[in-house]
Amino acid sequence: MEMKKIGVVGAGTMGNGIAQVAAQIGCDVVMRDIEDAYVERGMKNIDRFLSKSVEKGKLEAAEKDAILGRITGTTDMSALKDADIVIEAVIENLDLKKSVFKELDELCPPETILASNTSSMSLTEIAAATSRPDRVCGMHFFNPVPLMRLVEIIRGFATSDETVAITSDLAKKMGKITVEVKKDSPGFIVNRIMIPHMIEAIKIVEEGIASIEDVDIAVKNGLNYPMGPFELMDLTGIDIAYFVAEYFYKELNKESKWVSPNLLKTMIRAGKLGRKTGGGWYDYSK
Ligand SMILES: NC(=O)c1ccc[n+]([C@@H]2O[C@H](COP(=O)([O-])OP(=O)(O)OC[C@H]3O[C@@H](n4cnc5c(N)ncnc54)[C@H](O)[C@@H]3O)[C@@H](O)[C@H]2O)c1
Repeated sequence: MEMKKIGVVGAGTMGNGIAQVAAQIGCDVVMRDIEDAYVERGMKNIDRFLSKSVEKGKLEAAEKDAILGRITGTTDMSALKDADIVIEAVIENLDLKKSVFKELDELCPPETILASNTSSMSLTEIAAATSRPDRVCGMHFFNPVPLMRLVEIIRGFATSDETVAITSDLAKKMGKITVEVKKDSPGFIVNRIMIPHMIEAIKIVEEGIASIEDVDIAVKNGLNYPMGPFELMDLTGIDIAYFVAEYFYKELNKESKWVSPNLLKTMIRAGKLGRKTGGGWYDYSK
């Protein structure tokens, strides 16, 4: 199935990255957020990324203009109505995602695929808000989208083989490597592995065993990871780590290993969500 028009719901960290990679493969893209200011911020982020690519000699200036020209930012949901696929990237809240999918289901023709970039949540439950659960799946990109190679393709209970094949093919056209998550299970592969790692790192700091900086140094140099867990949380959003941990606790038998450390909750209450708020575990205000 040829993808000509791609809809993206949410122009935040992930939404604008997804819009960019979709436009880079020649598709027309409509990126929708709830306020003009958020749409503009998303468009600016794309412009900034592409401008750096031009400066580095990786992209022609004319190609940058062509990519930007294929992206339309809007607050109008109905602009997505003739998309071949819509990829949802609103915040990690199940009720919000379900209401977005219900609205998209009523708006888009039955053949449109509806994909979610959720980090952890049930595709079966999201799909149940629509009348086309066979054409709903997870398409989990990683941050920053234009640079990170992996996309997890996740099956809900009723996702068809055709939907998996089409979304996987689209991700590959975007230059990504795909893995198939065969069963709908919280956090899929990567976050199921990563969240315990983040929780332990916070507990080590909370218990006074080591500093934030030293935990990051230890993980980078002892495990050969490119980033430490605190640097990674600041990049991806401390709120996302918290929402995912809370979801795991609820969904994975309320096991104590998924309980959010107090320090994580304190960061959320203080509004210190990472780079996007100018500060998190580290300060980015300067
Ligand atoms: N940040 C990451 O590293 C990362 C990685 C992979 C997946 N995800 C997932 O991607 C999704 C988005 O995360 P993010 O980091 O981009 O969040 P974000 O907070 O940066 O952006 C979310 C955007 O959604 C918008 N929004 C809210 N309700 C909306 C609606 N009804 N219609 C359109 N837009 C709406 C918000 O205004 C905001 O601009 C979440 O499900 C998250 O779990 C995040």
